[in-house]
Amino acid sequence: MAIKKILILPDPILRKKSSPVEIVNDEIKKLMDDMLETMYKAPGIGLAAIQIGVPKRVVVMDIAKDQDKKEPMYFVNPEVTWKSNEKATYEEGCLSIPNQFANIERPEKCNIKYLDYFGVEKEIKAEGLLATCIQHEIDHLNGILFIDYLSKLKKDIIVKKLIKNKKELERIVV
Ligand code: NI
Repeated sequence: MAIKKILILPDPILRKKSSPVEIVNDEIKKLMDDMLETMYKAPGIGLAAIQIGVPKRVVVMDIAKDQDKKEPMYFVNPEVTWKSNEKATYEEGCLSIPNQFANIERPEKCNIKYLDYFGVEKEIKAEGLLATCIQHEIDHLNGILFIDYLSKLKKDIIVKKLIKNKKELERIVV
């Protein structure tokens, strides 16, 4: 396993639409292993392949409350097959948008069809944090970020902050 560099907004790669995985082979398993290690190191509870620059429809997550008990989840080609009309609001952040958080409303429940780590087709009913997290990650696969749900003003403020941070970081590199 290897820790990969997480791309940060405004990196244009984050806006690419990811392609479906044709077969869950060793290369895809290696990608999932690297993504999981990168996510734990960050630390975060979800990561999409595009966030490490790989435009494939692969997501890893671990939303276990107990940090000592790891419960990794792997989603290849995840698709929302049903979503509830009821909404839930969570304060979301993103490893590609460091230190920025906002309340985002999404369907409270959804069903997700996907291939697991072994390429077996599965369908789960998700609600609460799991539902929010998987919807956030599927958005990544379509080049969508949580800030896209905010007003233009709020979004611009966040993007400007990140561009400024990037410039400051570059300035101290010698
Ligand atoms: Ni994210």
